[in-house]
Amino acid sequence: MGKIRFSRKTFIRTFLVMKNDSPYVSKLYGRKKSRSLNTHSQYILKNILPKYKLDDESILTIGDNIEFEIGFGYGEHLLWQALNNKNKMFIGAEPFISGAINLIKEVNQKQIKNIRISTEDAINILDSMADYCLSSIYILFPDPWPKRRHHKRRLINPNNIDKFHRVLKKSGKILIASDHKGYIHSIIIDLIGYVRKVLILQKSHTRQHIQNTKRKPSKMTKTQSI
Ligand SMILES: C[S@@+](CC[C@H](N)C(=O)[O-])C[C@H]1O[C@@H](n2cnc3c(N)ncnc32)[C@H](O)[C@@H]1O
Repeated sequence: MGKIRFSRKTFIRTFLVMKNDSPYVSKLYGRKKSRSLNTHSQYILKNILPKYKLDDESILTIGDNIEFEIGFGYGEHLLWQALNNKNKMFIGAEPFISGAINLIKEVNQKQIKNIRISTEDAINILDSMADYCLSSIYILFPDPWPKRRHHKRRLINPNNIDKFHRVLKKSGKILIASDHKGYIHSIIIDLIGYVRKVLILQKSHTRQHIQNTKRKPSKMTKTQSI
């Protein structure tokens, strides 16, 4: 990755992130449904998907070591993870139906028990999750939306970083991969902006907490400190 330069524009953007004045919209863009599904695909969606479907109830009951892949494409990574980490539970969201069908077929053929699949927008799923419930989030090669006027469509943006943070455990991790230099740059800027915002909030919270708990030292404390 090349050297990252912080321009004036970058600072303004970081400031906006900190103020949470971001222009990002919560809407799903990109490929979703194939125009017409053949009968086999329709059969898979109707009869096989329900066995592996992530629904509101399963989010609550599938354990406390859950990893979430957002936009799994054809599902190769999720499948590999589930096969190699049988003690963990994996959930994946992919609205691109042909990709989801591919994963459902594989999971069914291999009788994999530790994957739940959704064809919904991952952001809606995140919103329905409890705080601190995920061990990891994977976002691999998200659509870079290279045109400037499409940047607001990017999945990794300040609004969504806030959502990732809310659902991740304290020791949780987020793994992001991208081969688009401009997107990587914007992700780093957004993360820096977010971390600064959190630190400032924590600092003012701590200050307020100290003020609230500040009491006159007791006689005992006075004696001890002499
Ligand atoms: C460029 S593809 C990458 C797919 C896969 N991760 C890979 O590395 O091959 C990005 C994927 O993210 C999915 N995606 C975009 N926004 C999403 C969202 N809000 N929820 C779930 N998936 C999303 C798209 O449908 C698309 O298949």
